[in-house]
Amino acid sequence: MSKNKQREHWGSKIGFILAAAGSAVGLGNIWKFPYIAGENGGAAFILVYLICIAIIGLPVLIAEVLMGRTTQRNPVGAFRKLSNSPFWASVGGLGVLAGFVILSFYAVVAGWSFGYIVEAFKGSFSNFSKVGASGDYFTSLTGNIYWIVGYLAVFIALTMSIVYFGVQKGIERASKIMMPLLIVILLILMVRGLTLPGSGKGLEFLLKPDWSHITGQAVLIALGHAFFTLSLGMGAMMTYGSYMSKEDNIPSAALQIVFLDTIIALIAGIAIFTAVFATAENPAVGPGLIFHTLPVVFSKMAGGYIFGILFFILLTIAALTSAISLLEVVIAYFVDERGWKRHNAVITFGFITFLVGIPSALSFNVMSDFKIFGLNFFDFVDFLASNILLPLGGLLISIFVAWIWGFDKALANLKSGAENLFERNFWIVSTWKVFIKYFAPVLIFIVLLNSIGIL
Ligand code: PFF
Repeated sequence: MSKNKQREHWGSKIGFILAAAGSAVGLGNIWKFPYIAGENGGAAFILVYLICIAIIGLPVLIAEVLMGRTTQRNPVGAFRKLSNSPFWASVGGLGVLAGFVILSFYAVVAGWSFGYIVEAFKGSFSNFSKVGASGDYFTSLTGNIYWIVGYLAVFIALTMSIVYFGVQKGIERASKIMMPLLIVILLILMVRGLTLPGSGKGLEFLLKPDWSHITGQAVLIALGHAFFTLSLGMGAMMTYGSYMSKEDNIPSAALQIVFLDTIIALIAGIAIFTAVFATAENPAVGPGLIFHTLPVVFSKMAGGYIFGILFFILLTIAALTSAISLLEVVIAYFVDERGWKRHNAVITFGFITFLVGIPSALSFNVMSDFKIFGLNFFDFVDFLASNILLPLGGLLISIFVAWIWGFDKALANLKSGAENLFERNFWIVSTWKVFIKYFAPVLIFIVLLNSIGIL
């Protein structure tokens, strides 16, 4: 456990920001956010979502990064060092477990995205003139065990190949290449969407609030998504924070990460809905929006061949920079706490994640009738992680920082690197206090009760 001397660090501030934004920006932004916004009324939902990001997401993000930076440890070590309590160490353990579970099903969807790059190159989308054909094609691909398990393996291997090279040479270097590329592709797609005739209706859908859609349920979906999209509640941001130096300004870094995550989700929304409306497709189709509807949109759009390829490259990059942060949580634990060598840990746990991912992949074919609490395996692990483990982790992290470690101690550590903010804009710090002590625990608790069906 005293490997701290050789513990790796980010090479630069921007390296940390891009890696953390890479973790945040993922399938959640490009796949999930547009479809949940589409199902819940567009602009009004987005407004509620932005409020959730500001009052819950940002304060919890600061808390997580701070725990990591203060202790320079993985989530288990971080909780243990600050509390000396086995109970709290096991909360960190829950995070490591969540990392495993999320990566196992996340990589299945990311694998589809990779497979769709190949389909886009092959020109498969050109035959889809309506969603039915495209949906059937998707079902036939995911029904093929070799296709789905094969791409799961490819995607996990890609993730492993980055984490294998460590924090600076692997994660930071990959993020510095992939994040700018992601932003460029997204901007190209947004401009294409906006220049399509009839795109205005898509913009209107995103920008003109229809308050009738804002139900209690929609607010809870927005709050839950705020967690997932910022990679909170399982120690990913804590782990990345643990490679930061004490001179770095956490509130400012957190603000930049939240800004990038939010703006990228909004731009993805614009790119997708302008194209969906311009081609007169349905915006509220749920999870099938990306894999069923978009290929049809590309088949109808001038230049759709190339934009289809670009879109699925974008989605795969976004998923990859998130997947590496999930794997890194597990690796950091085994390296810090168990004294494993990084290379061995990556090979072992990458392979185990692949094995755990197989039942998720098979949920779309041979195991589709296998149900746990009425859900297939994929939906079950997704529900378990996104609706239970992440909010529970977020709840415990905010309680821990505000009440167990203690707000004043946390504040003293937060000051390092952020002296200017403390001197000039102390009200921001006081606001954080109110949010992390009261708002975050109460609101997250409500989301959790709702997830388990009590509310
Ligand atoms: N934030 C990622 C997304 O929006 O796709 C998902 C995620 C990554 C969640 C890493 C949790 C995590 F630790």
